[in-house]
Amino acid sequence: MNAPAADTTDQYGVVGHPVAHSWSPFIHGIFSRETGQAMTYRLYDFTPEEFHQKAREFFKQGGRGLNITLPHKIAAVDLADDLTARAAHAAAVNTFALRNDGTILGDNTDGTGLVRDLCDNQGIVITHRRILIIGAGGASRGVLAPLLALSPAEIVIANRTSERAEQLAKTFEKLGTLHGVGFRQISGGTFDLIINATSASLSGDIPAVPAGVVAPETVCYDMAYGKTDTPFVRWALKLGCTRALQGWGMLVEQAAESFRVWRGVRPSTAPVLTALKERALLPSMTAQ
Ligand code: ATR
Repeated sequence: MNAPAADTTDQYGVVGHPVAHSWSPFIHGIFSRETGQAMTYRLYDFTPEEFHQKAREFFKQGGRGLNITLPHKIAAVDLADDLTARAAHAAAVNTFALRNDGTILGDNTDGTGLVRDLCDNQGIVITHRRILIIGAGGASRGVLAPLLALSPAEIVIANRTSERAEQLAKTFEKLGTLHGVGFRQISGGTFDLIINATSASLSGDIPAVPAGVVAPETVCYDMAYGKTDTPFVRWALKLGCTRALQGWGMLVEQAAESFRVWRGVRPSTAPVLTALKERALLPSMTAQ
């Protein structure tokens, strides 16, 4: 006889503070239905003070995996018993997975999520291309290794505080050609791809990047996303960029990679992107 469903339903969720706005339950709900996986996925709002204790409790009570979002991604590194190489490179964790021996693996699927969206969904070529990454915080650090693995001609990291960009470039210098500069030192003309990895959008700001970096054929990609065009997307379109994208695809792809880590099954992401589009959450895509 089959056990009751409640006994067999594995528990997952996303931890953040705040977290009520998260799309992850919606996304993982579609993934689990699509793949026939018996699992629940809930929101957990833990403050920074209670994060470690409550995350441990979640696993002690039978939880199988968590996504970690702001502001806990760095604190999550210390809670993990082991890190994957990509989480160690990122120095941040966005996915916890309970292993069979009861230990917690810390992983980071953000970089893979970005590369999948850029390459697989958008058909953007990274190899031999000039890439500008704006911002030198955690979001930027998390995507450098997977981008450099695709052998771009160069990556320029530009940051409001130039020292942070220089330091970050130094950390990754063995993995490829990259330079860290302040906004005023950006040189060499236009870029093939510009990625906004700053948190400027959150305050409605646009990083003070010189207009000369954008050509009509430059792809501008904002790791942030919103119901309407983000300030960075509006900035890019105003400068004549014909392809300015928000980070909805990265959001869905990093979730799919977490799902694969947990369940060993890769869900297809197209139905989720379609569902988001149906909810009119991708206004910038109509501009493509
Ligand atoms: P995250 O982990 O989200 O990357 P972070 O480590 O606080 O957060 O980094 C935020 C990034 O956004 C930094 O690169 C920051 O620039 P500084 O290092 O100079 O602070 C950048 N940022 C935030 N607000 C910005 C703004 N209004 N203009 C330009 N850059 C901004």
